[in-house]
Amino acid sequence: MKENKYDDPLFFEKYSQMDRSKKGLDGAGEWKTLENMLPDFQGKKVLDLGCGYGWHCEYAADHGAAEVTGVDISEKMLEEARKSHKKGSTAYICCPIEDIDFEEASFDIILSSLAFHYIENYEEIVDKIHKLLKPGGYLVFSAEHPVFTAEGSQDWYYDENGKILHFPVDNYYYEGKRNAVFLGEPVTKYHRTFTTYVSVLLKKGFRLVDVEEPQPPEEMLDTVPGMKDEMRRPMMFLVSAQKEK
Ligand SMILES: C[S@@+](CC[C@H](N)C(=O)[O-])C[C@H]1O[C@@H](n2cnc3c(N)ncnc32)[C@H](O)[C@@H]1O
Repeated sequence: MKENKYDDPLFFEKYSQMDRSKKGLDGAGEWKTLENMLPDFQGKKVLDLGCGYGWHCEYAADHGAAEVTGVDISEKMLEEARKSHKKGSTAYICCPIEDIDFEEASFDIILSSLAFHYIENYEEIVDKIHKLLKPGGYLVFSAEHPVFTAEGSQDWYYDENGKILHFPVDNYYYEGKRNAVFLGEPVTKYHRTFTTYVSVLLKKGFRLVDVEEPQPPEEMLDTVPGMKDEMRRPMMFLVSAQKEK
């Protein structure tokens, strides 16, 4: 099932209050690590899957991309993207990632930031992405870390005084649907092991360029509430992979 949670007015309102919505890339803890993994955008055709507010699309356009396409299932998220990024040649398309239909070998770079854990069939998407990329093209994506998605609730265990005890990891090898809670709202996510995330890429004809488990930036540790706790378990991972030439 393709859930369109971001069009839910209450969820959208809560998401719009997050730092990454208000401040853009600079409000995202992983941004500096991700930025270092990005290929050169100059003259490139770029596709962003699950583009949300379009921050990564705008970055690609600002860094010389010839054409940028952002795809998202949420009309509300795309509305924000269209409002904020009026300049440039970015096309924003409302469509589930699962249903994208572009010409084969038509993109140089495909990005996806924190959307793949909403996709039930990862292998199918990687297959599609492989077809859409030109030989030598790059897929750079982030997804919620399997340690973060495994148990499902995505919340800490607390003591009787509300102090964090630890983060639950359970059912790691049982892949599939999780009834998660994000921003206090029920959200469907999909858990898969780290092996699956990587081995599917290798099996489908990508070579791994880089893998990162980003730590919160030093300067956010004392200034952003809760950021210090992000040192206790990984919340996401980043991958850069290249389609074999
Ligand atoms: C956590 S937000 C990330 C947004 C943006 N990529 C960023 O990093 O700022 C996840 C985005 O994925 C989109 N999304 C979730 N499931 C999707 C699907 N099946 N197809 C397309 N977009 C989807 C949501 O609507 C939302 O905009």
